[in-house]
Formats: sequence, C-alpha cells, structure tokens
Amino acid sequence: MEQRRDRYLEAMGITRWVPRQAAAESGESISGDGDNVPDLDWQALRRRVSECRLCGLHEGRTQAVFGVGDPAADWMIIGEAPGAEEDRVGEPFVGRAGQLLDAMLEGLGLSRQSVYIANVLKCRPPNNRDPSQNEASQCAPYLQRQIRLVAPSVILAVGRVAAQNLLGADGPLGRMRGQIHHYGVHEVPLVVTYHPAYLLRRPAEKAKAWRDLLLAAQVVSGNSR
Ligand code: URA
Repeated sequence: MEQRRDRYLEAMGITRWVPRQAAAESGESISGDGDNVPDLDWQALRRRVSECRLCGLHEGRTQAVFGVGDPAADWMIIGEAPGAEEDRVGEPFVGRAGQLLDAMLEGLGLSRQSVYIANVLKCRPPNNRDPSQNEASQCAPYLQRQIRLVAPSVILAVGRVAAQNLLGADGPLGRMRGQIHHYGVHEVPLVVTYHPAYLLRRPAEKAKAWRDLLLAAQVVSGNSR
C-alpha cells in the first residue's frame, strides 16, 4: 500500500525525501552518473533527470521536464522535447500544441491525468531545433525506464522525431502512421500520429490523426487483431 502510494506521489512530482545515508545504502546514486538507470524507481529517476548534465542542453534549461500523469496509465503519449512553455512550467505539452493534445485526448474520454505524457528529450533544445543524435541517445535511457515503469497498453508517438527515435527508423511519418508497431523487448504496441503542433498548422490532417487515435484505442480495448 505504502509502495503504491509512493509510486503515485513520485510520478506526480511530490518528493518524499530520503536522507543521504539511506539513499547511499539503497544504492541510489546521489551524483547522477548516467549508469544504472534501468534499476531506478520513479523518485530516483526523477532526481537523476533533474540533475542530468550528460549533454549540453542542461546549460540552457530552466529545468528538466520529466513527465506527468498516471504512472500506471494504459496510454503513454510521447512527444519530442520541451518547448519554451514546458521549460518554464516543468511539464510536457502545456503550450498551444498541448492544448490541442488535451482536446484530442478528451475526444477519447481521456484526461491528461489519466494518461502518462513524456518526451524523447527532457531538456529544451534552443530555438526548438530537432534533437541531435547525441542528445537523443544520452536521454534515451530515461524514457526507456519511464516506459518500463508505466508499462502502458499502448504508446502513442506524436510526431516524426518521437516516432523515429522510438522505432529506430528514419522513414517519413506518413509511412509510419496507420499501423501498429511494437516497441522494445516487451513489444509494447505503438501507434504513430501527427504532432499537434503540425496539426495546428495543417488542420486538414486532423481527420487522419483521429483515425490514429481510434487505432490506439482499439489496441487498449484489445480489439486490434
Ligand atoms: N512539443 C513536444 O513534442 N513536447 C512538448 O512537451 C511540447 C511541445
């Protein structure tokens, strides 16, 4: 029960402080050195991300943007990287694109709180440029661990950068959407759709994005095969 409550508190960003001595005894690194990420629990992972200096993006960030939502969600939504608003607030998808994402989720009867939302990168790239290969690979273990901890029924990869990084592919988004992929050794079903920022520029594509969401919903309800 205590463990379950801790999981929720940790994923919500409410820190239960562990004395340094206890952290050292539990094997949790205080300095954050980039290894043992696959073994970290929510609290240790959040702390590691907040202290991360593995790439140059830490120099320009207001804060790292970890992720938000239900740590045991069926749906995991994965975007590209924090923008200016997300860097300021510390939460993914809170700008205009985030408002559209919220509306898309609402259409499915889902709220932000009922899904888990994260990004490929935890720190904002300057001028919203694409993540470099080095930045994406330094950050990848954090997202991999988040996916493992949430263990979602479906991953919705929003936008080309998220899709390419999660699938290890470099094709255009148009060729990746409309089908069910599988992520990682646990073969988590993964559906690709357009990034909401793109849909704000190209509203005519919303109908296709809606079809992608319905496909992901079928996966969650177990009716996809
Ligand atoms: N775009 C993303 O991909 N992620 C965010 O968190 C915000 C905008």
